[in-house]
Parts: sequence; C-alpha cells; structure tokens
Amino acid sequence: MKVFTSKNNIEKALQRARETGKTIGLVPTMGMLHAGHISLVEKSVSENDITVCSIFVNPAQFNNREDFVKYPKNIDADLELLNGANCDIVFLPEEKEMYPEGESREKIDLGYVTKPMEGKFRPGHFEGVAQIVSRLTELVKPHHSYYGEKDYQQLLVVKKLFKCKGFDGKVVGCAIKREKCGLAMSSRNERLSEVDKQRACFIYECLREARKMVFHSEPRKVERVMKDRFKSRPEFDLEYFTIADERTLQPFEGDALEHARIFTAAHLSGVRLIDNLKV
Ligand code: PAF
Repeated sequence: MKVFTSKNNIEKALQRARETGKTIGLVPTMGMLHAGHISLVEKSVSENDITVCSIFVNPAQFNNREDFVKYPKNIDADLELLNGANCDIVFLPEEKEMYPEGESREKIDLGYVTKPMEGKFRPGHFEGVAQIVSRLTELVKPHHSYYGEKDYQQLLVVKKLFKCKGFDGKVVGCAIKREKCGLAMSSRNERLSEVDKQRACFIYECLREARKMVFHSEPRKVERVMKDRFKSRPEFDLEYFTIADERTLQPFEGDALEHARIFTAAHLSGVRLIDNLKV
C-alpha cells in the first residue's frame, strides 16, 4: 500500500495506472475508520484494479468550529485497517494541499437536495462537501466512487454534483453497517461513553417503530409521535425526524412506500448522531 500526501505524486501514479487500462475506485473518508468504511474499501477492491482511500478532515464542511476540532483522529490505526483490507493507495493531504491559500472556491448550486434536514441544521455543510468531493474526483478521476448510505442525503448531493459537473465515474451507495443493537456505525460514536452507546440504540428503535407505523398512519402523524417519544428521553436533543421521498427528499406523501425513507438527527451528550431507514 502506497501513501501519498501530494496531489502531484498521486496524480502521476494514477495516470500511469490509467494508461495501462486499470480501473480506479475511490473511497473518500475523514479517517477514524470503522467497519462501515472498510466495507466500502472491500467493495471497491472487489470491483476495481486500484482502490484509493482518501483521509482528510475537511474543514470546509464543518459549520461548527468545535465539531471540527473535536473530530476524532487515529491515522496509525486507519493505515493498518486499510492495509488489512488490501487498499492500494492512501491519499493523506494536508489542508493547504486541498485548499491552497488564495485560491477561490467554486460556487456549485445543487438545488433542493442540499436544503432540508442536514442542509437546514448545518448551513454551509454541503457546500463544503461539494468542494472537497469535486477536488478529489477531479484529482483521482475514479471509475467508481463509494459513499455510505448512513449519510444518505450526502449520497444524493454527490450524485447531483456528478451530474452538474459532468463527472464520468459511477457513484455507488453502500448499505449502513450497524452495531448489534442497531446503532449506525460512525466515527463520532468514538466520542460516546459506553453508557451513551447503549442509550444511542434508541435512535434505531425509533426508526424501526416509525417504519411499522407508516404502513397504517399518515407520515406527518408518525413524525409527531416519534418527536414526542424523543421528548420522553431528555438525554437526546432531537433536530429532525422526517419521512421523505428518498429520490427527492421532499416530505413523503401518498402510497408509494417503496420510495419512503425515514431520516433523523439528534445530539446525545454533545455528539451529533444521524441515521436513516428505508421503509
Ligand atoms: O462522509 C464523509 O466522511 C465526508 O463527508 C466526505 C465524503 C469524506 C467528504 O469530506
């Protein structure tokens, strides 16, 4: 496994690979890797000749400075996991490599998918995601890019970005990996105590309960019931609990339940957790 920190060097290595007809898979991450990330790397390894995993905590996508500073890091453990998963190339740039001083940022309007839920509660977040995903995609020119469904809205944003920018490769969505109790795996879980990790399982319980209810109740009513359920657990500070059409993210209406997905975000002991479940 090769580790590159400069854009020039990784670009040259990938250019050589491309010239010999090799396909490239990209798994963009912010590090502190867990089994969810590794499942993306394994999928890429099985579908491409060369897998590139980037590790970069992207300051542009944090609307909260404290959240950025507190974002967990463990590069040595990440490299070991990637090596074990047969990743070929790790890209580990410094901030000035991805955002050279004085360089202007392209304004990319991705429309409605950036607006509700994460877009509402984390203003500027998707603009930052779009910046870094654009830069990594332009650099690596992957045939396939892998994104987890835990950040389902991000997956739609990235798909829209690929359309708007005319990027060639395919965006592949990968299923959420969960702990035994159903808690969605996330680097942020590292900041939870063992007690809070148990408490956090409540989020998945609510998603499953809502999924049962939505077959015989109005979506807006189900949302209200679940919001009340969160109120009965004061350790959680709920941001949203929304049933939306998974193609458009508009509030879900009607009977075509195969397109409905339930989304939620809540804070627990200062850690922001998100999850979603397909109906
Ligand atoms: O999902 C993430 O970890 C990040 O948002 C991503 C896609 C690596 C961009 O920084």
